[in-house]
Amino acid sequence: MTSNLPMSGQTALVTGATGGIGLATAVALAGLGARVGVVGRDEKRTAAAVQAVLAVPGSGGADGFLADFSDPREVRALAAEVLAAYSRLDVLVNNAGGYWSDRHVSADGLEWTFAVNHLAPFLLTSLLEERLRESAPARSAPARIVTVASDAHRAGRIEFDDLQAERGYAGMRAYAQSKLANILFTRELARRLSGSGVAAYSVHPGTVRTGFAREDAGRLFGLVLRAGALLMKSPEQGAHTSVYAASSPELVGRTGEYLAKSRVAKPSARAQYDVAAARLWSVSEDLVAGSA
Ligand SMILES: NC(=O)c1ccc[n+]([C@@H]2O[C@H](COP(=O)([O-])OP(=O)(O)OC[C@H]3O[C@@H](n4cnc5c(N)ncnc54)[C@H](OP(=O)(O)O)[C@@H]3O)[C@@H](O)[C@H]2O)c1
Repeated sequence: MTSNLPMSGQTALVTGATGGIGLATAVALAGLGARVGVVGRDEKRTAAAVQAVLAVPGSGGADGFLADFSDPREVRALAAEVLAAYSRLDVLVNNAGGYWSDRHVSADGLEWTFAVNHLAPFLLTSLLEERLRESAPARSAPARIVTVASDAHRAGRIEFDDLQAERGYAGMRAYAQSKLANILFTRELARRLSGSGVAAYSVHPGTVRTGFAREDAGRLFGLVLRAGALLMKSPEQGAHTSVYAASSPELVGRTGEYLAKSRVAKPSARAQYDVAAARLWSVSEDLVAGSA
């Protein structure tokens, strides 16, 4: 049995909140009384999500923000807008992400999966971190950064010699690498934030019926997703662990953990390799610096 703290008076920002797990997370946080910043990349879908969050009984309010996460300049502009709008930020949920069967490249020539799933939340977090730190003393529990990873990380390894998958691309390999990166990022982030009043968690939401991989699932994976849809969790069920990470008092003092089924779980051995976490951090800093 898990409990979540009420969040009235608090502000949470949820990326990828236009559908699936992100929208369900935004709705659930609003249900706890938080004001929710809804981040999307499409104006209409974002406006619809804002309306859905506002309609939640007890909602603390909702605001829409737009950014395409494949472009670090848009991530920077998003952070500036959020900082201007919110003098207080209690929770950041890095949820936006996806799977692409074929290799795509961003406007900066970076491999798409790595850019959207890892570099964008890495950059957004670094730009909002100070506001989360400043907001922490106003809370009875630490401010929180929640990054939605996946159990798919277990098949992943960080290919430091070929991070952009130029020597060969496979959708699942790129996805697993990016989700392993989410967990390593969270571990290093928690270490760096130690004593700051801000905690960081990574989350596996389960296998959830959403728009996941809708842009470019590939034939085989598309078939698997369609065939398995009935067995998957609903988006509301898929949001439980993110909401738990954002608000449960049970997690106080346990920063850096990987969570699944609303409890602490053990990630793969590679996801616990702190040397790789520090190296990934440094490489990521260099990669996002180019967009400054
Ligand atoms: N579904 C699962 O079984 C599962 C399992 C493990 C982990 N996850 C993780 O859960 C998270 C949410 O996925 P989901 O299953 O809810 O999928 P989803 O329904 O496709 O939602 C993904 C969200 O990310 C946004 N997004 C995608 N590309 C973007 C970009 N370039 N810029 C800005 N936003 C972008 C989407 O916006 P649009 O509405 O504009 O497309 C959408 O809001 C992901 O990080 C995923 O890796 C999912």
